[in-house]
Amino acid sequence: MDLHLTLDRSAGRLAFQLADRLRDLVRRGTLVPGHRLPSTRDLAGDLNVSRGVVVTAYEQLVAEGFLVSRQGDGTRVARAPVPEPPPTPAGAAHRRVLRLAAGMDAGPVDPPGITYDLRPGKPDLTSFPRERWATTLRDVLRGLPHAELNYPDPAGTRRLRAELAAYLARVRAAVAEPGTVVITAGVAHALSTVPRILIEEGHRLLAVEDPLAHQQIPLIRATGVTMVGVPVDEEGIDVAALARTRARALLITPAHQFPTGVVLSPRRRAALVEWARAVDAVIIEDDYDGEFRYDREPVGCLQGLAPERVVLAGSVSKALSPALRLGWAVAPPWLAVRLRAARALYDLGSSVLDQHVLAQMIASGAYDRHLRVMRRRYRDRRDAFTTALTRRLPAVRVHGVSAGLHAYVELPAGVDEAEVVARAAASGVAVEGVAQMRVRRPGPPAIVVGYARLSERRLAEAVELLARAVSPAARTDPETPA
Ligand SMILES: Cc1ncc(COP(=O)(O)O)c(C=O)c1O
Repeated sequence: MDLHLTLDRSAGRLAFQLADRLRDLVRRGTLVPGHRLPSTRDLAGDLNVSRGVVVTAYEQLVAEGFLVSRQGDGTRVARAPVPEPPPTPAGAAHRRVLRLAAGMDAGPVDPPGITYDLRPGKPDLTSFPRERWATTLRDVLRGLPHAELNYPDPAGTRRLRAELAAYLARVRAAVAEPGTVVITAGVAHALSTVPRILIEEGHRLLAVEDPLAHQQIPLIRATGVTMVGVPVDEEGIDVAALARTRARALLITPAHQFPTGVVLSPRRRAALVEWARAVDAVIIEDDYDGEFRYDREPVGCLQGLAPERVVLAGSVSKALSPALRLGWAVAPPWLAVRLRAARALYDLGSSVLDQHVLAQMIASGAYDRHLRVMRRRYRDRRDAFTTALTRRLPAVRVHGVSAGLHAYVELPAGVDEAEVVARAAASGVAVEGVAQMRVRRPGPPAIVVGYARLSERRLAEAVELLARAVSPAARTDPETPA
């Protein structure tokens, strides 16, 4: 058996390297229990090292329990070289957590059999500004005082909080100062922390838009707060219905409702702020894609209207990449203090290096430039998608404004949403049905389509398949009379 062992002679410590490689082969199951290893003399000859190197490596792994060595029988892989996984707790709570974790994993790769991944939620990952990030990181490292490599302020570096306060004021019309900005590991982090603080303050209910992003549902439930779904119409959340709930806290996506794509109307904004003041409410504003509006300047955030009531939560997940796990919360001062304390108690904050890189990219204008490029690209993709779709399927309706990275496509009445999703998947197109995003109320069949990651040509191809999934009886060639 050729073990494909290669050692880096320039790195030295050859016995250590060899033990490392062999341990890895055992762990991965390439070398199975009972397998007999070459004699020390043979392996030393193969690797062109002294026999002592192999003897030392074998001894190391025997000591660790990966190998056994017996007089006259050579050296073999031990019967149970890899420790068994610890026993699994059998409790219902543990099973629930596993289910939640499974549901949260959106999967880094396309699901099997999928050629066109139109699931919403992710930006075009191929457009991440790798070079810019790398050169900025190099600049940061060159100038960073040693002391900055210590544990950070748990609320975030002063520099990033200052840059973000200015940026969010400029771009999102937020009312922000460095002291009220807390750096998070993304919007998800704010959503798992703020409700816990609200519970400490006596809240039990959190009103949410119905429908909402289904990935957020388990995350919010895990905080212990009870979600109350409030309907959404063409003007955004129904504030009268909200006022009929007993909730005094709300999670909302005013700039571009997820998933329906509508913008909270000026009337509803005013009514919402009035409600918040009347019942002493806290509003969590999920501003997940507020920088991507294509038909006009983005509407300023709700937080700018009522900074004493609204927590503005955003992240770089759509603008750069969700892999960074870097976001912010701009909170009323009392809540900013509590969020900072939560970071100090739970996790001691976010990566200082990433924070400095982002701060520098905002300060240099590189972040704005990247957004300008991406806005054009996404706008063209959205146009290509909606034009192709409505041409092929005049009976469907694309809801909402020209914004963001997804489109909400209402299907003709009577069409089975789950069947459309399944037929689309069978033909290689992944989209998401809206049923799973609803908290309580049923609604018309609809699918949510993330168009951000496919070229215009590939979007047109996907639309052809999607059209057949929606309307299997329809002819495929639009030029042919049906
Ligand atoms: C509605 C909504 N909010 C927030 C986010 C971003 O979450 P995070 O900042 O934790 O990556 C997403 C991403 O898919 C989203 O769809």
